[in-house]
Amino acid sequence: MFKKMLLGAAMVGAALIGLQPAARAAESVEVLHWWTSGGEAAGLAVLKKTLGDQGVEWKDAPVAGGGGSGAMTTLKARMTAGNPPSASQMLGFAIQDWADAGALADLTPIATANHWDTAIPKAIQKFATFDGKWIAAPVNVHSTNWIWVSKAAMDKIGGPAPTTYDELIALMDKAKAAGIIPLAQGGQAWQEATLFDSIVLTTGGPGLYQKALIDLDPAALASPEMHTAFTRLAKIASYADKNFPGRDWNLATAMVIKGDALLQVMGDWAKGEFINAKKVPGTDFLCFRFPGTQGTVTFNADQFVFFKHGSSPLDAGSTKMATDIESPAFQSAFNVIKGSAPARTDVSDAAFDACGKKGMADLKEAVAKGTLLGSSAQGYGVPPAIQNAMADVITKEFEGQITADQAFAEFPKAIAAAK
Ligand code: GAL
Repeated sequence: MFKKMLLGAAMVGAALIGLQPAARAAESVEVLHWWTSGGEAAGLAVLKKTLGDQGVEWKDAPVAGGGGSGAMTTLKARMTAGNPPSASQMLGFAIQDWADAGALADLTPIATANHWDTAIPKAIQKFATFDGKWIAAPVNVHSTNWIWVSKAAMDKIGGPAPTTYDELIALMDKAKAAGIIPLAQGGQAWQEATLFDSIVLTTGGPGLYQKALIDLDPAALASPEMHTAFTRLAKIASYADKNFPGRDWNLATAMVIKGDALLQVMGDWAKGEFINAKKVPGTDFLCFRFPGTQGTVTFNADQFVFFKHGSSPLDAGSTKMATDIESPAFQSAFNVIKGSAPARTDVSDAAFDACGKKGMADLKEAVAKGTLLGSSAQGYGVPPAIQNAMADVITKEFEGQITADQAFAEFPKAIAAAK
């Protein structure tokens, strides 16, 4: 159904190519993205400047909303109207869907000339290639199994740094007793699903995570460990303040930055907010892997795809953008600000802060050990329809609409219905 819709949209797009404004032929790129928070905008500014320095005009097409579901809705509408942007930020399985629909430009000549195949981890290449061709340029590797902790709050309650689930709970209890909000949580389905990824990982390790949240294995989904994961989700939800519903992820980060809350469970785009607020790791905030998940990295790599515009090859502006994104210098400059690790593994960590260096080292270790796993909450574990079905159940439990037992029972059913 989705595929048919995309195919139709791509055909309409192709049919209306003749109506495209002439401006696109000049050195410009119109880029659809959801990088609208302070830290995200600072990262994007690096890309804008890199292109601007080469005379490529940036036409901004932002659609606010972490996780990008709003941006993807806008993209579908634009494709249906035959008005594709030059490029769009995109994640995981969505990239494969648009490639399958024939909408994406072939980046293989640029990739070959710049050795993307040896520099980018295979787990990411799987999503950046289709039918043996490169159809996306990965700009970073974010990882999602982190906690971001206020140093002031930690000093006040006296730590220690949690390394297990039980220690995490003990630490949040201490914060509560000290009158500090233990958990800075945003109230959107994708944020709660991101938290749940880490809960499953700490509860059953990478084996359960892979089987339940990526392979969707019925036995794993019905296992006692998954029941424990849902029970833990309800427990952790009890540490959020009552104002969490609807809260944006970066406002939750701001609670930690101000020391109003102890910690946030979030991908390392949260670090972009700390950096943008001139906060220093080790001094103002602390970064730890979600307790019990050290050794595994659940990833979410931002990528840019470029749309076919008629039969002409990629225009000059888009070619420059795709090339620049994979240059080691850009990968360093951009990711230092964005909070992520470079998508290229041959980039030096010299310019990165302590959390960035840790992120890069953890990524390297995960690639070597085979524990670099796609984040299901972020579109790298399962296709979008299943991702959304999972998130719906998780968020209903988090908000207290259903119990942990009910969520455990509903989860496999929701997945089956979305397949
Ligand atoms: C993710 C994206 C990150 C970050 C986050 C919050 O989907 O990959 O780069 O922007 O959303 O908006």
